[in-house]
Amino acid sequence: MDTATICVILSIAAGTILFLVQSGGRRRLPPWPYPFPIIGNMLQLGRYPHRYLADLSKTYGPMLSVKVGRDYLVVVSSPELARKLVTQHDQAISARSVPTSAKAWDHDKYAMGLLPVGSLWRKLRKITKNQLFLAIKLEGSQGLRQEKLRQLHKHLRDCCAAGRAVDIGEVVHTTVLNQMSETLFSRDFGDFGSDSIRRLKDIIEDVIQSYIRPNFADLFPFLKGIDLQGISRRAKLSAGRAFAILEDVIEMRLSSRSALGYIKKTDILQGLLDLMNDSENGLTMAEIKHLLLDLIIAGVDSTASTVNWATTELMLNPEKRAILKDELATVIGEKKQVLESDMLRLPYLQAVIKEVFRYHPTGPLLVPRKATEDIHFEGFVIPKNTRIAFNVWCTARDSTIWSNPDSFEPERFLGTDIDFIGTHFKLIPFGAGRRICPGITLASPMIPLLLAFLVHNFDWKLEVGEEVDVAEKLYLSLRKSVSFKIIPSFNSFQK
Ligand code: HEM
Repeated sequence: MDTATICVILSIAAGTILFLVQSGGRRRLPPWPYPFPIIGNMLQLGRYPHRYLADLSKTYGPMLSVKVGRDYLVVVSSPELARKLVTQHDQAISARSVPTSAKAWDHDKYAMGLLPVGSLWRKLRKITKNQLFLAIKLEGSQGLRQEKLRQLHKHLRDCCAAGRAVDIGEVVHTTVLNQMSETLFSRDFGDFGSDSIRRLKDIIEDVIQSYIRPNFADLFPFLKGIDLQGISRRAKLSAGRAFAILEDVIEMRLSSRSALGYIKKTDILQGLLDLMNDSENGLTMAEIKHLLLDLIIAGVDSTASTVNWATTELMLNPEKRAILKDELATVIGEKKQVLESDMLRLPYLQAVIKEVFRYHPTGPLLVPRKATEDIHFEGFVIPKNTRIAFNVWCTARDSTIWSNPDSFEPERFLGTDIDFIGTHFKLIPFGAGRRICPGITLASPMIPLLLAFLVHNFDWKLEVGEEVDVAEKLYLSLRKSVSFKIIPSFNSFQK
């Protein structure tokens, strides 16, 4: 045999072995649809990945893989498999994949939502759980949030008097943003429609956009370091603006703390600054600044979106709104303010919130995790570094799990013990396991309180020419893409 023939035979053999090794490795992944070369299934995932993945699960079953750029994403869409994966492999699925843009200002090295499970992540989780978001601590800042409802009351009263229509999504977003900033550092950023609140919203929106925009540098490692789309540049600029605001807030607080007669605040910044000199859980200034940004990004959009979907569904279902109004009238009576302590006496309100979490899950794929090691699960192998998503949107629309899954029926939760704290896997809007949302103790009173306030105090009439649209768009959370305007009028007891 001449040398050329040997070379040809050897390359065919090497190619075949390589093919077998690669396809054998991939065959052990959960099943996947055929990917296009280079881009994989990216185009099909499109703007509504949860819907495409839900469709795929009809063909490939409750655990499947899709190729996104160079890597695979494993998607779990059955509560039973989600429960098994979280209970059997919580530690091994507890990493996150970090977008290149989050590296601006080293946010990836400090952000609780992005850090791997390690000493800093543990410290931040411990502080948020035991010090900041403890229900009893949050009670202390309840007054700050109630004050924002009083401002909303005044704003809607003015609109009522002038017969002016109100963009419900807009007022909800402003109220949540101000409630959050009051809870975090006793400060609001401006009134409804003011330039200052618009500027802040734009900054936060820019930061979010830079983190979620598909970035070639994340999809193809050989492009790392080349900011082809300018996303990292934009992240640096917008996160820089956000940090400048936070630094200003922190500095002002530090100087007022050292002034004579300073009265301790009940907010989260007070708790964080108190911890600066703590020998066990000491925090640096950088850690405080990044944590505040992380909490604003994770907390405002998700909470406002949820209240927005709730108002939308109650607008579309006036009979459900009437039931809720009746419950509030009976339990709260002529009191204008609904209190966090009233919540337990309002089962229909609780059921409405659960149904909104089911029907319009804030994160339809939650916040994807990343495997820290090869995981052997249900006869498949999820290789190390593979991203894992839970398609809770698909679970919510599954008629084998929920009756009439495509209609808004809060009644389905009445008289059941289903909650959303990560134990009932058919309803896990806040995730589950060790990375479950730490903001759950803040979001779970804030959302019903704001909704109850809007329903209890006002009657809503759609402005002429307006429509209630349920189109959605996926940002960090699943937002409504079109808002609607209502003309509020006072409930009879307020006239
Ligand atoms: C409707 C309201 C909210 C929903 C549905 C929600 C949902 C989630 C989900 C699904 C996760 C990922 C959990 C997992 O991987 O298992 C998460 C993480 C997180 N959430 Fe929330 N969230 C909400 C409100 C908030 C609020 C109010 C805050 C704080 C002010 C917050 C702060 C965070 C943070 C810091 C993380 C990252 C935790 C980590 O990776 O260790 N969230 N949230």
